[in-house]
Amino acid sequence: MRPRDAYAEPYRIKMVEPVRQISPEARRLAVERAGYNLFNLSSDDVYIDLLTDSGTAAMSDAQWSALMRGDEAYAGSRSFARLRRVVADITGYEHVAPAHQGRGAEHVLMMTLVRPGQRVPGNMHFDTTTGHIVLRGAEPVNLLRKQGYEVKSEEAFKGDVDLKALRTELEENAAAGRTPFVLMTVTCNSNGGQPVSMANIRQASELAHAYGVPFIFDCARYAENAYFIKMREPGYSQKSIKEIASEMFSYGDGCVMSAKKDGLANMGGFVAFRDEALYHRALEWVIPFEGFATYGGLSGRDMEALAVGLEEALDEAYLEERIGQVAYLADLLVDAGVPIITPAGGHGVYVDAAAFLPHIPQKEFTAQALAVELYLEAGVRGVELGMCAFGTTDPNSGEPIGPALELVRLAVPRRVYTDRHMAFVARAFEGLAARRDSIRGFRLTYEAPVLRHFTARFERI
Ligand code: F0G
Repeated sequence: MRPRDAYAEPYRIKMVEPVRQISPEARRLAVERAGYNLFNLSSDDVYIDLLTDSGTAAMSDAQWSALMRGDEAYAGSRSFARLRRVVADITGYEHVAPAHQGRGAEHVLMMTLVRPGQRVPGNMHFDTTTGHIVLRGAEPVNLLRKQGYEVKSEEAFKGDVDLKALRTELEENAAAGRTPFVLMTVTCNSNGGQPVSMANIRQASELAHAYGVPFIFDCARYAENAYFIKMREPGYSQKSIKEIASEMFSYGDGCVMSAKKDGLANMGGFVAFRDEALYHRALEWVIPFEGFATYGGLSGRDMEALAVGLEEALDEAYLEERIGQVAYLADLLVDAGVPIITPAGGHGVYVDAAAFLPHIPQKEFTAQALAVELYLEAGVRGVELGMCAFGTTDPNSGEPIGPALELVRLAVPRRVYTDRHMAFVARAFEGLAARRDSIRGFRLTYEAPVLRHFTARFERI
């Protein structure tokens, strides 16, 4: 990767959206009103919003112009035809059904292919994917290599699946009809936006096919994954991102995509298959839940913006800037002594809250405490990925069980913030480091039975 000052953003700014930092006292009141849950904040009270990179991209002039040609026909929309052509051109999968967003596409995929009692192996499923597998009465099986779980690492492809474990999984289940497909998530969001190598994709696909099992991609961030392959995997430095993506998809039988990420769109998703019969089965779920086969929950203008965005995301200058900005934030944080997952992933920096606030035990929501303090310090909103999001309760002792890592994710929206914003975020951590010993943990005052992190409320200990 070139140094950050060897190039500049491959765009200039034509329109701005004002943001403002409210006072420390106003932030204190806002977060108290929010029950110390940053999902409950009004975005007006947030200065720099790193909650998610999903649906938060800035659209280009070409995308804004494309909105005007949106064809809002219920059936046979030419905007869908355009989107279908772009998806088929990139993936090689001719049979495309739109969905309102990624989880809509996942719902369609799981209803089409998964039966109760089955097991769905993959590198590491995203939460909504896990949710849909479980809702179907099946079991999600994460087979990430053990290197993928290490916080500090020099590994180039921490998103790779453990091929030996995948073989065992298939050996034990495929012949008995317990494996509907293998799902590969590129990049792997759940362990830090880590890339998967082409070699691993090819070998995992060969294994799946040897056992007669389809190989499907969750390709929300496939363009970022392709960029990492170009930068890090021998043999790919001279290939275009489009060629790399095409090779990757050539190993699969279909994909689900949340197009709110590498589609550079604010809403949308799709499911796509090589096999026409599978597509027709999927339509049985698209039509009642998402919408007719040519809009699937999207307006014509959404599909136009997405068709343009999918092509823009393949632009290498854009990807260099994008991945470079995330790496830049990571470097600033490392320089400031902040413990993060390394190497940085494609869409955000994951801060190791347990290492930053070692005096707060996990059962007192260490990462939540860090996320709240970052907001109080500077008006920056990250997201807790730790005890609140992933914690469970021991059914025997009633004691809370925490996940392996207590993280705060700083997800970077695409084409939205400048390096100055990143520098500001890193500086906020210096302020936090200076007063870290006085930071206290939290206890829950409200939790919903499922997906509690979205609506939980806390009080300070
Ligand atoms: N798959 C992956 C890998 C994701 O990261 C997400 C969403 C989804 C599927 C679901 O897509 O939100 O369009 O329904 N990730 C977001 C995030 C929410 O913040 O990481 P969706």
